[in-house]
Amino acid sequence: MRTVLALACAAVLGAILWSAAPVVWGRSPRAAAIYEPNPDHLWNRLHAKIFVRDDLPDTQRLPDALDPPLWYHTQYLLSNPSHKQAVRILDEFLQTHAENLTGDPLKRAILQRDLWAVFDWAVARHPEHVRDPAYEEERRELRTRLAEVLRRIALSPEELAALPDNYAQAVSSGEFGRNYDPAHRERAFLPPDLFEAQGPWVELEDPGNPEPVAFQHFSDHSARSSFLVFLRLPGGRKAAFDYLQALWSFPGPWVLSPADANHPQVVNPDVPQFPTGTEVALVRQLTLFDNQGRLVNSPITESLQIRVYREIRKSDHPPAGLDGAIAESGQDFYDIELSRPQLFAGKAGGLRALQPGEKDFTKFGAFGPDGGRPGQYLTLDNYSPVLKQCVFCHQGAGIHSLNSRVKLLKPHVLQKDRHSESLGPHWWQDARTLSWKQSHDDWAALTAYWKASGGSH
Ligand code: HEC
Repeated sequence: MRTVLALACAAVLGAILWSAAPVVWGRSPRAAAIYEPNPDHLWNRLHAKIFVRDDLPDTQRLPDALDPPLWYHTQYLLSNPSHKQAVRILDEFLQTHAENLTGDPLKRAILQRDLWAVFDWAVARHPEHVRDPAYEEERRELRTRLAEVLRRIALSPEELAALPDNYAQAVSSGEFGRNYDPAHRERAFLPPDLFEAQGPWVELEDPGNPEPVAFQHFSDHSARSSFLVFLRLPGGRKAAFDYLQALWSFPGPWVLSPADANHPQVVNPDVPQFPTGTEVALVRQLTLFDNQGRLVNSPITESLQIRVYREIRKSDHPPAGLDGAIAESGQDFYDIELSRPQLFAGKAGGLRALQPGEKDFTKFGAFGPDGGRPGQYLTLDNYSPVLKQCVFCHQGAGIHSLNSRVKLLKPHVLQKDRHSESLGPHWWQDARTLSWKQSHDDWAALTAYWKASGGSH
């Protein structure tokens, strides 16, 4: 699966670099003041060592990036000097029992999230070329220390149960619009009814399949997050299920594509179309583990991506440039993400909307800016703004830009409404995330360290 995704992402990366419009940046925030105001606080230094890379100076502009800037072939934290520096900070953390520097469960949960990502990366990371170093020893040195820090900062089941629903906090903060506003298309919005059990947003499911609908995101983050897909039709909940039924009942949803040897079967261009005004959302929610080593779905929303279809038309000419492709797509794109300092400060549930010109390195996929030789890495100027990148992977009119559409056609199972009586308060949380992770080798590696150290889990 990783290989398939990696190949797909290599193709997309070429496209992402298509436009490199210059962006005016404000003064970057103090690089390391994430957990505490003092940048020299050990938690800040540990965070900065991971997120602000000396060999990739533009990471200074993104000290609060959603994911650590570590990709498939990254050598940072493995080659020196960054490896020795990271080991030194982790040792300092362990020796000084820096887990006691804060009792705030939210801060511990977020540090767990980030260090867990580094641990998994240190399990799965691959050398770029056969002759490149595999850094076996360096990866092991990182993993041993990370596993112990992770063990020490894990929350108790009671602390986990008391973590806040930051999405609800963000909605009630009033910081965000509640609906798509065609008169202010630049304004991101946060639908208050997204998680309403019988509301207009319908969660797309893949019942009977051990893999969730958004499998590429899910596996790319190795189940440390759940990714949930929601669909909203202007006609409401019943209209959405009627549409899903029509889609599923469509005879011959797949057609042969002799032009593409890798995908001999493609979605029939004539499958039923959804109406203008349809919205789709991809919600990312954090997986954590408790101090007994048990995996849990947490209530923390890490990001919400929304696409709104303000126009659906088939085009018979190729779009001119990136802006042409965006206009042609008929969609408006939104991305709301977690900001750590905002979360800790209790501001709008820690969620903030990405601004139109905002840039980030590769957010999703195996290949980052640091392929090739050090010194030749890409800078942020090589990237298009995040909100302009959406169209690279979401082209096509209406339903044809919905990447999850393949899960809505035969031979998949028909999407059916669930009776609200059977739904718990967090009905969308997916136990498959936990069972998938449970059987994955990176989780086995982490739990093996805990067992070997004789720790409590
Ligand atoms: C590198 C490719 C890529 C980029 C760039 C990308 N997406 Fe996606 N997106 C996907 C894939 C693939 C899925 C299908 C779910 C899965 O398998 O993980 C998806 C799913 C979604 C969904 C759920 C509905 C659907 O289409 O299946 C939404 C909503 C979404 N993306 C919004 C966005 C927004 C907004 C942006 C830009 C900020 C964006 N995406 C950028 C690849 C991408």
